[in-house]
Amino acid sequence: MKFFSTSEKQTSNFAKKFSKKLTGGQIIGLTGNLGAGKTVFTKGLTLGLGIKKNIASPTFVLMKVYPVNKHQIKFLVHIDAYRIKSTDDLIAIGAEEYFNRSDSLVVIEWADKIKTILPKKAKFVNITIDKASRIINY
Ligand SMILES: Nc1ncnc2c1ncn2[C@@H]1O[C@H](COP(=O)(O)OP(=O)(O)O)[C@@H](O)[C@H]1O
Ligand SMILES: [Mg+2]
Repeated sequence: MKFFSTSEKQTSNFAKKFSKKLTGGQIIGLTGNLGAGKTVFTKGLTLGLGIKKNIASPTFVLMKVYPVNKHQIKFLVHIDAYRIKSTDDLIAIGAEEYFNRSDSLVVIEWADKIKTILPKKAKFVNITIDKASRIINY
């Protein structure tokens, strides 16, 4: 399905709504060019999950884990694969351990870069830049 967003706020609100359908054990892979809105989308998800902290993009730390208290979701794991040189980098920091945990929801920016280590169950959301708007394919 497609959602057309004409502002950062619309993307954030869409992600907030999208988060309501998510459960623990899921992996959401975000794809799209630099500046498409993957981090904006992730922030919207965190708002929907009741995470109060203003999430910083984990570009420099690869992975951040936030506590969540939403039904069976106890952790939101935010991974940014932008700077990853090898999937070994992620394996080394234990990212894979979250992929099969029913209490964790994993959101991955630049997920296409680490496709080889993602389980088949991963769902992808692609954001395309179209002039000043964004097309969110989900
Ligand atoms: N419709 C939109 N949805 C999301 N972001 C938008 C939109 N229109 C403009 N922007 C801007 O695009 C940028 C998206 O940044 P970011 O989420 O960090 O991208 P990414 O993580 O995909 O590299 C922000 O500066 C945001 O304000
Ligand atoms: Mg980003």
